[in-house]
Amino acid sequence: MSQDTLIDEAGVPQYKLPDLFDGKPNPQYWADRRRELLETFAEHVYGRTPLEAPEGGWGPTVRSREAAPFAEATRIQFRIQVGPPGNRHAVALLLYLPEKRKGPVPVFLGLNFSGNHTIHTDPGISLPESWMFPWDGTGVVDHRATEAGRGTRAHRWPVERILERGYGLATLYCGDLAPDQQGHPRISSFRELFAPAPDPQSEWGNLGIWAWSLSRAREAISALAEVDAHRIIAIGHSRMGKAALWAAAQDPLFAAAISNNSGCLGAALSRRKFGETVAKISKGFPHWFCPRLSTYAEREEQMPVDQHMLLALIAPRPLYVSSASEDLWADPRGEFLAAVEASAAYRLFGHEGIAGTEFPEVEAPLHGDRIGYHIRRGTHNMLRYDWERFMDFMDKQWE
Ligand code: GCU
Repeated sequence: MSQDTLIDEAGVPQYKLPDLFDGKPNPQYWADRRRELLETFAEHVYGRTPLEAPEGGWGPTVRSREAAPFAEATRIQFRIQVGPPGNRHAVALLLYLPEKRKGPVPVFLGLNFSGNHTIHTDPGISLPESWMFPWDGTGVVDHRATEAGRGTRAHRWPVERILERGYGLATLYCGDLAPDQQGHPRISSFRELFAPAPDPQSEWGNLGIWAWSLSRAREAISALAEVDAHRIIAIGHSRMGKAALWAAAQDPLFAAAISNNSGCLGAALSRRKFGETVAKISKGFPHWFCPRLSTYAEREEQMPVDQHMLLALIAPRPLYVSSASEDLWADPRGEFLAAVEASAAYRLFGHEGIAGTEFPEVEAPLHGDRIGYHIRRGTHNMLRYDWERFMDFMDKQWE
């Protein structure tokens, strides 16, 4: 964190959030307002998701279906092919399902940073064929995945426990469609499958493409009889939390969304300027957003949206926001306050959301009516503690 990063609550400027309802806080108006907000996030923050299918279309195929070498679980691997021969892209999608189930199961679906093989030591998970970001300790050599990467991010994905609690887990590597590197040629060749955005300032960035891939993965797993297509939960940590929120905002068939430590331009309010700011993120990670975003550097108060509006787009579906006490870069309090503000949209549907504005104690989860929040002790990560709380909350949604 550079010296000019605000990490002291006393330095938070006075701010006024843009009105969620544009002066018309009634249910009749919400569908139109919602559409308008989606447009505004597309135009100014994440870029436009093309409405048409990509050239050459897309389609999933099941590549393997086997017993997993642990617990009582099935491992299913898909390949989702996108684009025509000559400009082909492919996503590898991994799904674990618990064997003990009474009917179709709810599934957590999230992007991973470092390849499907990093979420578990299971030797049957196919190694990614894509360009890999060389995250520390993930066994990447010359931007390629190797056997050494297996299970290196298992602490973020407690697979056996998730299955034991009756959920399925599906994941895909973010870099399969859009490598996490500014200017990577695969990003532009993927974009070429679609007509360009009418306004180049709102061309989609990686977060838009990642969100798009989450929806394609949702469709792929929905087709299986063992999966409850009405209970697929978009989940993500940090930049993947931003993508999960944007995916669930756009795709109403996601039943719920979970943002873990998603921070700036995820769940945190931008106008607080606490931790990472719009200037810092658009300089550090310009490829995640549409080009117009950078015009709001140091001008958060001019943005037509703030992040409580993104959370409100999930309403009335269950929403969970989680923070970590030492993750000041992601502004835990700003994440909490956005969830509090988004509660107004839930109230339009007769759900309280989070009542009150008092910031909860560390590891004292606040599970409100359709919105849950907790702050875990420790650093930026997604750990077993977080998963247990997500599942406690989700269990209650479908009693
Ligand atoms: C960086 C970035 C954050 C992002 C995080 C992550 O810290 O500044 O915006 O959320 O990486 O994805 O881990």
